[in-house]
Amino acid sequence: MASVIELAPSILSANFAQLGAEAKAALEGGGTVLHLDVMDGHFVPNITIGPPVVASLRKTIPDATFDCHLMIENPDEFIPAFAEAGANWISVHQEACVHLDRTLHLIESHGCKAGVVINPATPVHLLDDVLEIVHHVLVMSVNPGFGAQHFIPNSLKKIETLARIRDARGLGFRIEIDGGVALDTVGEIVRAGAEILVAGNAVFSRGDIRENAQTLLRAARSAAATSRPPRLRRAATALRNSKSDLRRRRT
Ligand code: DX5
Ligand code: ZN
Repeated sequence: MASVIELAPSILSANFAQLGAEAKAALEGGGTVLHLDVMDGHFVPNITIGPPVVASLRKTIPDATFDCHLMIENPDEFIPAFAEAGANWISVHQEACVHLDRTLHLIESHGCKAGVVINPATPVHLLDDVLEIVHHVLVMSVNPGFGAQHFIPNSLKKIETLARIRDARGLGFRIEIDGGVALDTVGEIVRAGAEILVAGNAVFSRGDIRENAQTLLRAARSAAATSRPPRLRRAATALRNSKSDLRRRRT
């Protein structure tokens, strides 16, 4: 089955003085999930928004899915407030949660979809025991804290690994990527298996927000349409490897 590609505009790069209007423009351009970066100045070296901003956006935008990415210490203390403010999805960092299983269940108990996030230096296998209970896994492809950073290519391997594990274990979590998603990276990101594409700088920083979102989504969907499903990709790799083995044996 072809995966459903969704664009999640990240308001971190929006003009905060016109937040509602800019968020709406990104959604009109095809974004279906609004990505809201919450930073506390401790877990990451930056401070952004809290529940009141989420609640105000919810009044302006009643329908879109709000994806709250908590880059904070002690997320359990704030999950109820973000749920109350209008979050639909709440994700927490594996690195910030001593009792990750409990935190993910806490998110669900407040009526939200639970997601887990890993930093660029965190291996995928640390998530092995929570993959059954998460709605989405968010792979950070930059070190969290700031927008407009360079995409870290190692995250492609992580996406492929997650897609393989999901396939092998018959699980249903979705794969989201965050950081450096732009026209020059989105093709390989989608081909690796990412489905929810967070993009801040590429959508909000210059030009027309609506058009930026449309162009990025179009590029992502056309890459997805031409990419082979993981099983066929693995078969092609195996074939390539066996051909090169044959060549090596002949020389
Ligand atoms: C970074 C944030 C991202 C950020 C991505 O810590 O989690 O959501 O907005 O920004 P771009 O798309 O500019 O790399
Ligand atoms: Zn984010």
